[in-house]
Amino acid sequence: MSHVKCLRCRECGTEYPVEPIYVCDFCFGPLEVAYDYDSIARVISHESIAKGPLTMWRYHDLLPVDVEMALDMGTGFTPLIHAKNLGGKLGLNKLYIKNDSVNPTFSFKDRVVATASAKALEFEFDTLACASTGNLAGSVSAHGAKAGMDTMVFFPADLERGKILGAGIYGATLVAVEGNYDQVNRLCSELADNHRWAFVNINMRPFYSEGSKTLAYEVAEQLGWRAPDVCVVPGASGSLFTKIWKGLKELTDLGLIEKNDTRMHMAQAEGCSPIARAYEEGTPHVRPVTPNTIAKSLAIGNPADGFYSIQTIQDSHGSAVIAPEDEIVEGIQLLAETEGIFTETAGGVVISGLRKLALSGAIKPDDVTVAYITGNGLKTQEAIEGVINPVFTSPSYNDFMESMAAHTNGKSQ
Ligand SMILES: Cc1ncc(COP(=O)(O)O)c(C=O)c1O
Ligand SMILES: [Zn+2]
Repeated sequence: MSHVKCLRCRECGTEYPVEPIYVCDFCFGPLEVAYDYDSIARVISHESIAKGPLTMWRYHDLLPVDVEMALDMGTGFTPLIHAKNLGGKLGLNKLYIKNDSVNPTFSFKDRVVATASAKALEFEFDTLACASTGNLAGSVSAHGAKAGMDTMVFFPADLERGKILGAGIYGATLVAVEGNYDQVNRLCSELADNHRWAFVNINMRPFYSEGSKTLAYEVAEQLGWRAPDVCVVPGASGSLFTKIWKGLKELTDLGLIEKNDTRMHMAQAEGCSPIARAYEEGTPHVRPVTPNTIAKSLAIGNPADGFYSIQTIQDSHGSAVIAPEDEIVEGIQLLAETEGIFTETAGGVVISGLRKLALSGAIKPDDVTVAYITGNGLKTQEAIEGVINPVFTSPSYNDFMESMAAHTNGKSQ
């Protein structure tokens, strides 16, 4: 059994029963899961967690699900890698990459969908659905397949091929909407009001978003039960960013880590940076934008958790950085060429942002720094086509030597 007390409005505090609802009837504020932390404190310890499986379910006491109902896809406990080569280039001695691109459907979204789909099964929904910028579609489709549910995934029609194929293969109904993510989301909110479908990021959102907290727990455990000094996190709706912060606070409050003075830095792409712009302007009110970025997974112009992201930045003394569009692919290349990790455009945004933060002195050389790499490069191959140039040759020694010389000359010019 979970330790959930109720759902609670983030704005006015009104409490609601645990149901597939997501907005407050009184003030339209978003609902959040509230836990009985005293009962969690009685059962949780480093030892109890260590006895759990090597997946995100080792932290089930801090998740809003009945773990018996959860699908076991093997999500979580992804590598935390001491990035000595990249750190060397950026002057960071204690840089770690949280490589969450190796989850079952190759993004961190498996964490939130694992949580939401367990809840959808508890609530006895037959249909799992989502509004997606790409990665969520693949994850919802895979979880729906495993659960034997009908699955409907909605996404902007101009999505990368790898994301569409990577969702369709699981047998989901794919709905390519002629519009941007914010329009897809509006359509899905209307559908959620009129159909008994579990939209993981709409009517299941309070439960869904809690899954991202496991990215805080895992990093703290992998660092030997301590909080990082700095986190660099990609931002779209802002949910992941705020939930990593919430997860670190929970660990502190439960006495599982000593103190948490982590600085939370959000990275957004130049072509869709509403949260970073609000931060720069010094206002908590995030003005919606029309996205135009190669980082399609982060292309949310009207971020649901924008206001709370600014609050997290303020509470943690962090910041938000903007990755110029022409540096996103450079970021992807830099991580691949130094650490052997091939990330998607969202990861390029993180590495570009990380470099900016290191150069500006916002991150000190000995800060324990964690850069969250949340998606896999094989899904956004279009983005890097212009920078990959094979040597073409016939299968003859002489031709190879000539082609190689021409290739090397071309590179040095
Ligand atoms: C790879 C990747 N990283 C990060 C994010 C940001 O997630 P959030 O909407 O929680 O800010 C997304 C969102 O789709 C994503 O696909
Ligand atoms: Zn309210």
